[in-house]
Amino acid sequence: MSFDRLAPHYRWMEWLLAGGKLQRCRTAFIRDIPPPHRVLMLGEGNGRCLVELLRAFPDAHFTCVDASARMLGCARARVLKRGLSDAGIEFMHADALRWEPPDAQFDLLVTHFFLDCFAPEQLAKLVPRLAAAGTAEARWLLADFCEPSSGFAKWRARCILRAMYCFFRRVTRLPARRLTPPDAFLERSGFALSKRLLADWGLLHSDLWQRAT
Ligand SMILES: C[S@@+](CC[C@H](N)C(=O)[O-])C[C@H]1O[C@@H](n2cnc3c(N)ncnc32)[C@H](O)[C@@H]1O
Repeated sequence: MSFDRLAPHYRWMEWLLAGGKLQRCRTAFIRDIPPPHRVLMLGEGNGRCLVELLRAFPDAHFTCVDASARMLGCARARVLKRGLSDAGIEFMHADALRWEPPDAQFDLLVTHFFLDCFAPEQLAKLVPRLAAAGTAEARWLLADFCEPSSGFAKWRARCILRAMYCFFRRVTRLPARRLTPPDAFLERSGFALSKRLLADWGLLHSDLWQRAT
């Protein structure tokens, strides 16, 4: 699996296919969270959310883990191009399925359009490991695709998701064949959904999760 081929095209493709919708989902809850000290971003891609988090929380330390070296390069370039400093950012080229995060270190986890890359059996291992990297007060920002339960919206989403998985599996060798809702994995890992926004006929969701009390 590699997003290297897609990295230079990711931004214009997103603009063409989704306009500003995905970015609105990525940033929906930035103003609803307390300022984090340490942020773990998984599969951050070309850094659009990273830039907004850096602007909102300039004193935080960021760890960005991505399996694509070119995506990491794009993210760093975007940060510098926006006139921001990359001094507080650690860019890690690693496969999240093998990477061992430190325990209880991060008070903010961010996985935007990332968990949809994995099959259920992979999520069952990955999500608890990421959850364990969060502190007792950790928040988790998660934007992704979803499938509405009925009606026209369901069938619309099905067609779009089928085309997307077909494309991404071909170009990136994505392991997932279809979308697996991550909710049950987060709940089993001790997180509870705090806020959710739906967009684009229910095709997109933007979530704020926090430790279940
Ligand atoms: C669909 S893109 C999403 C990028 C970005 N977060 C966004 O909001 O658009 C998925 C990202 O996850 C990364 N990725 C996929 N599988 C990964 C893995 N096993 N370990 C680390 N990164 C991975 C890809 O390289 C890519 O940057």
